[in-house]
Amino acid sequence: MPAKVTTVFACQACGAVSPKWLGRCPDCGDWNTYMEEARAEAVRPLPTRGLAAPVAWEENGAASAPRLSTTLPGLDRVLGGGLVLGSVVLLGGEPGIGKSTLLLQAGRGVAAQAREVLYVTGEESSSQVRLRAQRLGIREEKLLVLAETDVGRLLAEAEGREPGLVIVDSIQAVRESALSSAAGTVSQVREAASSLVRYAKARNVPIILIGHVTKDGSLAGPKSLEHIVDAVVSVEGERSSSRRILRAAKNRFGPVDELALYEMTGEGLSEVPNASAALLSERRAGLPGSAVTAAREGTRSLLIEIQALVGPSLPGSPRRVAIGVDAGRLALLLAVLEGSGLPLSPREVFVSSTGGIEVGEPAADLAIVAALVSSASGRALPEEAVLFGEIGLLGEVRRVPAAVSRVKEAAALGFKTIYLPSGNAGEAAGFPDLEMRPVDRVEELVAELGETAAVRPPRR
Ligand code: TYD
Ligand code: MG
Repeated sequence: MPAKVTTVFACQACGAVSPKWLGRCPDCGDWNTYMEEARAEAVRPLPTRGLAAPVAWEENGAASAPRLSTTLPGLDRVLGGGLVLGSVVLLGGEPGIGKSTLLLQAGRGVAAQAREVLYVTGEESSSQVRLRAQRLGIREEKLLVLAETDVGRLLAEAEGREPGLVIVDSIQAVRESALSSAAGTVSQVREAASSLVRYAKARNVPIILIGHVTKDGSLAGPKSLEHIVDAVVSVEGERSSSRRILRAAKNRFGPVDELALYEMTGEGLSEVPNASAALLSERRAGLPGSAVTAAREGTRSLLIEIQALVGPSLPGSPRRVAIGVDAGRLALLLAVLEGSGLPLSPREVFVSSTGGIEVGEPAADLAIVAALVSSASGRALPEEAVLFGEIGLLGEVRRVPAAVSRVKEAAALGFKTIYLPSGNAGEAAGFPDLEMRPVDRVEELVAELGETAAVRPPRR
């Protein structure tokens, strides 16, 4: 392969490149992360197999893109309805979180549809992978395990077999032999991935790349891949818990923010059938400071508990802590509340979403305010209430999308009362068993829930 090789310096933390060595990365601010790397300027050519014909744009659209099911409904949903042929997906997560396990299960699903799956392992030996597959009860003959770290050889194997899916575990473990730098460096990860992307596009074969994330949560080397892959899916979860959250951070072929909840079991990852019920399972209703919202996560509505703790008045600037909730949003809501009969400015405020799910949408505003009012007044909210609605700067409660889906999710879990924007009340009228409480302005909510909030001394 004729490759003109030049050297560059690349930040190993974020992938930024520079023609000369730098002590501190101007992009990510990390120190001593620049390493000299070779960069190949020629691309690995694929054997030509007919000329690529131009495709009319409507035939190329996401909706009509042919897809391959992994037979894992949660993963398929996060991908936007299965794997798009010829697409490249980056699956990121911390070591030990379950990436290999998930993709063995996905590989089995594809192999069970009589398509060959090439599971390339660069980290574990093929017998280790086979052993794990056996423990998972995977016996599909079409799931082939290949221990290989050289991209050229793995592509030659793929060319010979024409598989239905290629899985690369992991992108940090494979390398392009044209580059002298070690596996896992930014330039290796980028070049290896580029070769794989070219193969995927030319042969219309989907590829899933596993990428390990660093402690700070960014995809190490693979961070520079986010632009060249079609979708980035992350696996998250606490080490101490068996729950895993699958989420699309980027997706050219589907909605982002779609998520799926999994449980790590003795037989691999299994999807949690009722995500809302699981998320609320640890909730103790009847305590002040707790409110439930119906949040949109991709194409679904999920019930999530928002907790607030309003502390005593303190001199100086009191702390404002937001966990799983947008800090800017919280600041805005506190400012709006100043003029709404619940001045919290001298008091410490903590707000958090439970279950490890981040709630980014403004539709959670109403529940955040309700949790704050409830904590400040020491009065629990009605147990069977769900709240959603965006709050504007002037204290108005604004309508939100997908109200019906949110109300349905609340009804399915037995909630009885829905606080929602007046603007959404019309759409949500078709639920005779539910009590609808349309809210127009934030003061109404404060008055109804808090009554004594403004005059009561802070709880200690
Ligand atoms: P793994 O898929 O190897 O993680 P990654 O590829 O992201 O590094 O998962 C490793 C963990 O999962 C390991 O601690 C064992 C656990 N595990 C189970 O609990 N059940 C199972 O069926 C399997 C295969 C693994
Ligand atoms: Mg692994």
